[in-house]
Amino acid sequence: MCSISAFLNPYMMTPHLQEARNASLRSKVTVVGSGNWGSVAAKLVASNTLRSTSFHDEVRMWVFEETLPSGEKLTDVINGTNENVKYLPGIKLGKNVVADPDLENAVKDANMLVIVTPHQFVEGICKRLAGKIKTEAEAISLVKGMEVKVDGPRMMSTLISQQLGINCSVLMGANIANEIGQEKFSEATVGYRQNKGAAESWVQLFNTPYFNVTSVQDVEGVELCGTLKNVVAVAAGFVDGLEMGNNAKAAIMRIGLEEMKAFSKLLFPTVKDSTFFESCGVADLITTCLGGRNRGVAEAFAKSGGKRSFDELEQELLQGQKLQGVSTASDVYEVLSHRGWLELFPLFSLVHEICIGHLPPSAIVHQYSEH
Ligand SMILES: NC(=O)c1ccc[n+]([C@@H]2O[C@H](COP(=O)([O-])OP(=O)(O)OC[C@H]3O[C@@H](n4cnc5c(N)ncnc54)[C@H](O)[C@@H]3O)[C@@H](O)[C@H]2O)c1
Repeated sequence: MCSISAFLNPYMMTPHLQEARNASLRSKVTVVGSGNWGSVAAKLVASNTLRSTSFHDEVRMWVFEETLPSGEKLTDVINGTNENVKYLPGIKLGKNVVADPDLENAVKDANMLVIVTPHQFVEGICKRLAGKIKTEAEAISLVKGMEVKVDGPRMMSTLISQQLGINCSVLMGANIANEIGQEKFSEATVGYRQNKGAAESWVQLFNTPYFNVTSVQDVEGVELCGTLKNVVAVAAGFVDGLEMGNNAKAAIMRIGLEEMKAFSKLLFPTVKDSTFFESCGVADLITTCLGGRNRGVAEAFAKSGGKRSFDELEQELLQGQKLQGVSTASDVYEVLSHRGWLELFPLFSLVHEICIGHLPPSAIVHQYSEH
């Protein structure tokens, strides 16, 4: 029988014990969420957990269970085919990804939690997980969006930290999931609070030859970039739907970036200017305004002259995927009106007023073309 001192002292160990000790020190990773980006995140981290001795090979992925038209459970199909046929068809996730429909079971052994669900589900998930997470666990949020309460906005990383009682970093960037799923090159930014060591572990977990990750000490800046650019993408979609041309779209992107920066700095004076030049800033804004789902649905809305609702278009065009920009525009509008800032942010305000039908899509440039 081995003594405890032998287990603690590597020099007294047999190779077998050394292996057991190393295994006990490895981080276990769980991905909470399995949509389009959630599945790609699982694929990215699963390729690294196999390569690095810092992590357990297996990556658990919590799946919000659904029954497919074939009558099969999504989880069974993912585990049988190694593919998320609904949200990321045609891409193998890695054999070490295990889909699990039981949320509590999926997270119980994890010390690295990747949270990646649409933002409207995060609070409910965290409530279910409170008190059930390892106390030394670290989280990272890939979620874009904010929550607005009477006392002001709360970023998703703060909500996760507060509800689960653990530190939470963020990862955002110019990351259209389907492209990364096909291993096309892109960059991303990890935003961290104080714990640089945790940020380094997240970079190690996500970085691959085709996914270049850097870190900055600016959680709020990184997270607000990822959240607010969806509002600008809706404006870009209106411009596309009305066929206003590339110059108009570039103007909307420039004004949008200016408002993103001003809004972020008003809310959190610690936000750094340099963050807006990272992948999470200008690069994510560009890719989302060129090709993302928020732009696409807003384009269809403008083409219908604002007659078809966003809910209807989301259901028709996204097949279960969720739109973020419209609800974020509403959240931002609430903050702006509550704080008396509406006039400071004409683009953000217009996007919301167009989305709720108070103004026609063409109003998106009127504010600027009157002068
Ligand atoms: N898709 C992208 O290209 C991309 C890129 C970067 C960031 N993001 C962000 O990642 C986050 C997750 O997006 P996604 O693309 O992985 O998801 P998605 O929109 O593709 O899919 C929706 C997911 O929500 C799940 N769901 C539905 N109802 C639910 C419920 N009641 N409770 C919990 N889950 C439920 C579905 O099962 C599915 O997994 C979002 O904040 C998004 O903005 C997405």
